[in-house]
Amino acid sequence: MKILGIESSCDETAASVVENGRVILSNVIASQASEHMKYGGVVPELASRRHCENILPVVQKALEDANVTLEEIDGIAVTYAPGLIGALLVGVSFAKGLAMMADKPLIPVHHTEGHAAANYLVHPQLEPPYLGIIVSGGHTRLAEVTDYNTFRTIGKTRDDAAGECFDKCARAMGFPYPGGVHIDKAASIGNPDAFKLPKIKMEGNPYDFSFSGLKTYIVNLLHHAEQCHDTVNTNDLAAALQREIAVTVAEKTIAAAKEFGYQKIALSGGVSANSGVRSTLEAACAKNGFQLYMPPIALCGDNAAMIAAQGYYNYLAGITADESLNAAASKELRGESAQCS
Ligand code: KG4
Ligand code: ZN
Repeated sequence: MKILGIESSCDETAASVVENGRVILSNVIASQASEHMKYGGVVPELASRRHCENILPVVQKALEDANVTLEEIDGIAVTYAPGLIGALLVGVSFAKGLAMMADKPLIPVHHTEGHAAANYLVHPQLEPPYLGIIVSGGHTRLAEVTDYNTFRTIGKTRDDAAGECFDKCARAMGFPYPGGVHIDKAASIGNPDAFKLPKIKMEGNPYDFSFSGLKTYIVNLLHHAEQCHDTVNTNDLAAALQREIAVTVAEKTIAAAKEFGYQKIALSGGVSANSGVRSTLEAACAKNGFQLYMPPIALCGDNAAMIAAQGYYNYLAGITADESLNAAASKELRGESAQCS
């Protein structure tokens, strides 16, 4: 079964054809990052306009690269939430029109579920149940993935996502948007022991995350240094920040795997490209005898192959939509437990 995936939740217009949820036949991404760079972050109106311009050629190229016609596609999967509402609307409207015109099933995909599905594209042996840790620019979430369509959230961010923390700290350090990758590079030549960062402490659910305090501490530190005309070694600061985030993610993930009895752990999301997050979690899993699955760097960030992969499993479970499908800037995951914070 061939699913066409469409993704436009932020600043990447993407389309992909995936076979049986596992094999990528094409994967096209038109990134706008260089355009948003001069503003230091994504400008929503600009993103929507670029999606409008890019979506048709990107979808056409995805079909061409896969060497399939629209008639040969079995379903059209689209990210409908969460994300920038104007950006999401472009993908959702396009997918609805295409599905109606070609008389194909329309399959709604939650962006976070999509990130988790990136692992299906490279790990044929990975099947639920497993513990998912999804770390991106908008979300940080630990969830029991009990089947392909059901996520039971164990913990999530109460404020900033890890990627947001990376990006805002990177901006304060003078790195261009998106800053996470620059922190990663700087950290590789920095000394993490040069700064003592505050340990993140929270009351309540021990599996929740909070990164806004860390962000504020670093932004204030840099601001104070600037006022005092002091220089800050940004490589060292980046290394300290990266270690703090990586250790927090790894500690909570390992503790959750032990408490909830999971041996299989799957990391995903844009921040799963971070070398410190990968190596720290890898070492912690090896130490505890857990099996860790991670996407290759190319499938960590936003792409449509992960949407098509999840779309396949949604379709098999009967999760489809009609022309009333709407985009949503925020949306809980299917199967998400209401009592989780
Ligand atoms: O999943 P994603 O592409 O978009 C969202 O769904 O949010 O994640 C983007 C986030 C950004 O914050 C970006 O800076 C971060 O992932 N990121 C990284 C790295 N590569 C991307 N953060 C740290 N280290 C990296 N190597
Ligand atoms: Zn994403």
